[in-house]
Amino acid sequence: MKIAVLGAYQTKFGELWDKSLGDLIFEAGSGAIRDAQINKKKIQIAFIGNKLAGKLSDQNHLGALLAENLGINIPVVRIEAACASGGVAVAQSCMAIESGQFDYALVIGAEKMTDRLIDQVSSGLMSAAGNDEQQGGFSFVGLYALIARKYLQDFSASEKDLTLPAAKNHWHASFNPKAQFPFPVTVKQILASAVVADPLRLLECSPVSDGAAALVLANPRVASKNKTKNRVYITASSQASTSLSLSQRKSLTQINSSKLASQKAYQQAGLGPKDLSLLEVHDCFSIAEIIALEDLGIYQKGEGFIAERNGEVRLGGKRPVNLSGGLKACGHPVGATGVKQVVEIVDQLRDRAGKRQAKGLKVGLTHNLGGTGGTAVVHILQK
Ligand code: COA
Repeated sequence: MKIAVLGAYQTKFGELWDKSLGDLIFEAGSGAIRDAQINKKKIQIAFIGNKLAGKLSDQNHLGALLAENLGINIPVVRIEAACASGGVAVAQSCMAIESGQFDYALVIGAEKMTDRLIDQVSSGLMSAAGNDEQQGGFSFVGLYALIARKYLQDFSASEKDLTLPAAKNHWHASFNPKAQFPFPVTVKQILASAVVADPLRLLECSPVSDGAAALVLANPRVASKNKTKNRVYITASSQASTSLSLSQRKSLTQINSSKLASQKAYQQAGLGPKDLSLLEVHDCFSIAEIIALEDLGIYQKGEGFIAERNGEVRLGGKRPVNLSGGLKACGHPVGATGVKQVVEIVDQLRDRAGKRQAKGLKVGLTHNLGGTGGTAVVHILQK
């Protein structure tokens, strides 16, 4: 598979009091079209990833909202797949182009979360979990805390090891002006922060965020006439599902959808985990990054935390992970995250990531989860 990425754009993530959902969609969409250096009339179809607009913004008709804001009268499809809404929207855009029916597609992920109280946001998010989990009074912090506790029981990691992805990702975010928390935090500060759901602390959780990201994708045949420099291609796009509820899984510390989606993606791209130069993975909570490194086949089961200890996943290391700051520190406007991950890899592969630019990059991977992994989406990008 080969889909050209012509344009990529991310808005600032954070508490954006002065921006509506429509404003965010407009900024991201027009930013990506400008970056692609094409007339917006060329775009034939658009996809928008969003989870919470119906609950938090009283707006469900996002296809028409996008068309109105960007002034484009084309088919627009809204995608909802929990925190993987953005990743699935990218995958659907790839399918639309691969079908041969469309040469140009726009994909936007957008979410507006901070205008409501935390209990409304948490209950909205929990509509992405199993009914037993909802009725049991869990939040996603609670569900990932179960996963973290089991990981600590089964493997030789310590609570300090669990903080390492969060400290690294805050450090990366300190080089990203679009991040929600563009400042470093130390392991000591993380360990001293309030416990939200034992063993997870405040500074190990992704925050509640507003933000949007967008891409213009194209069939490589038409893209060859385009002027963008350092062209990047999506060479694999894969999605898989596993059970919605943790109680239905054989293992709490392995997310089968991540395994299945990544195996299919490696096959499509004709590559393996060893070929990856950088990754953006779904670190909604610190434990999730460690488990992702294992499920994606980069480290053995129970050893993902060692990569965090030895520094190979840091900027300057062998294979940096979450140079954007990840969900933890760049922010997690849930429907936008899967698109933002692709934007970050595109910016890195195009050598335009500023102070967080890594060197010698060839192949990047994005990994986006819905809920506790009921849905997983993996994309591979190459120069
Ligand atoms: N990381 C770092 N700082 C955070 C933070 C986070 N995740 N969440 C909040 N803060 C900061 C705020 O900026 C604020 O700082 P300030 O006092 O300097 O302004 C302070 O902590 C208190 O913020 P507040 O908004 O009152 O926090 P809260 O208690 O309402 O929310 C969580 C904290 C952890 C409950 C919330 O961030 C959360 O639910 N995160 C998980 C979201 C989620 O489940 N996403 C889906 C994943 S599958």
